Amino acid sequence: NEGALWGARFASGPSPELAALSRSTHFDWVLAPYDLAGSHAHAAALAAAGYLTPDEERRMHAGLDVLADDWASGALVASDADEDVHGALEAALIAEVGPELGGKLRAGRSRNDQIATLVRLYLLDHARVIARDVLRLIDAIVAQAQAHPDAIMPGRTHLQHAQPVLLAHHLQAHAWPLVRDLERLRDWSVRAAVSPYGGGALAGATLGLDPQLVADRLGLARPAENSIDGTSARDVVAEFAFVTAMIGVDLSRFAEDIIIWNTREFGFLTLDDGYSTGSSIMPQKKNPDIAELARGKAGRLIGNLSGLLATLKALPLAYNRDLQEDKEPVFDSVATLEVVLPAFAGMVATARFHTERMAELAPAGFSLATDVAEWLVKRGVPFRDAHEVSGALVRACEERGIGLEDADDALLGAVSPLLDPSVREVLSIEGSVGSRAGAGGTAGVRVAEQRSELTARAQSA
Ligand code: ARG
Repeated sequence: NEGALWGARFASGPSPELAALSRSTHFDWVLAPYDLAGSHAHAAALAAAGYLTPDEERRMHAGLDVLADDWASGALVASDADEDVHGALEAALIAEVGPELGGKLRAGRSRNDQIATLVRLYLLDHARVIARDVLRLIDAIVAQAQAHPDAIMPGRTHLQHAQPVLLAHHLQAHAWPLVRDLERLRDWSVRAAVSPYGGGALAGATLGLDPQLVADRLGLARPAENSIDGTSARDVVAEFAFVTAMIGVDLSRFAEDIIIWNTREFGFLTLDDGYSTGSSIMPQKKNPDIAELARGKAGRLIGNLSGLLATLKALPLAYNRDLQEDKEPVFDSVATLEVVLPAFAGMVATARFHTERMAELAPAGFSLATDVAEWLVKRGVPFRDAHEVSGALVRACEERGIGLEDADDALLGAVSPLLDPSVREVLSIEGSVGSRAGAGGTAGVRVAEQRSELTARAQSA
């Protein structure tokens, strides 16, 4: 078992079946730069504790740098004999600096504390990429809201016409969950920035290596408080998987709106050609595939989270090989969001909104009935009675096939003596929207204020 990390106590090498099952280099190779960063830090700790001479330490760092360059250029690849990224890199280091020096690096560390640290480093890096992409999407949403400050659309509950709202208000309602996702990533990164390095296999170190030195070199805040927890906990990975799943779910809700708005029946928007797809048979088709893929991939992100939680459930302490299953799901979640988010942002930034169509439909479905009721309340009518009067007016108009705004004085009076003609002052969608000026409401002034707050929160997350 030449070049392996273990073997002396075994009479034979691993069977081919075991090797095939055990091998992880096809997915953990992406961790090589983090493994090398860990090795640089570990070499410094070994030198500080007197296990490497200054010259050995220098040659060690130089050898690790060669490996990093070779990995980046593609010249360094794992061989079939390598079980995982750690073993492959140790073998490569020994080939580079010789067995005498290369064999010293493993002192005082285990693959268990290594992998627990590396996965954090990988996720912290990609959390930054994802946060940047989420921020770009928020910017695209805010730009569309800003470009359509007065456009009014039908607001819906139960997918039924409810009350008119500003398009900007609705768009910003899709941005807020993304702002919270940014904040989740930021909060998570504080918990993630802890270094299990130095925990060894599970029980901690004997060699007097300085774990804070390692943490500092890796850009992590401090060493893990408990070596068993540090090497075997994966809640940090699961929490990351949750945040990515939540981003996927948030995108899927926006995607669903876009898909519906893009239908002929709604006609609220047209997607740019560069962000739409065609059909192989129907020449006229223009499909919202980005939104559909975003919606579909939310399922995949949720699956990655639930698969990981299932792996962790009831797993005894400390390290178990099951934990190797933590990586592929989150690597997939990272890769998924890193392609979905830029496409989604481009789709939003280039969409054209049909504000006349939205305005035309905004009063439909008696969406100003609440305004009539509240107009009565302002005149001293108890809301219970106001609700009844407004409901009766809706029924009378529905029977006649007309809108609330079409009711003449005679009809208003017939429905209730409380409905004098001045009620018409609230029967406009602009009046309705403008009057909802309470905190967080859809009035233009509130929505503009909200937009500044949204931008500030997104920027500071
Ligand atoms: N490849 C393993 C993982 O991803 C790390 C190696 C630990 N292996 C071991 N036999 N203790 O979790």
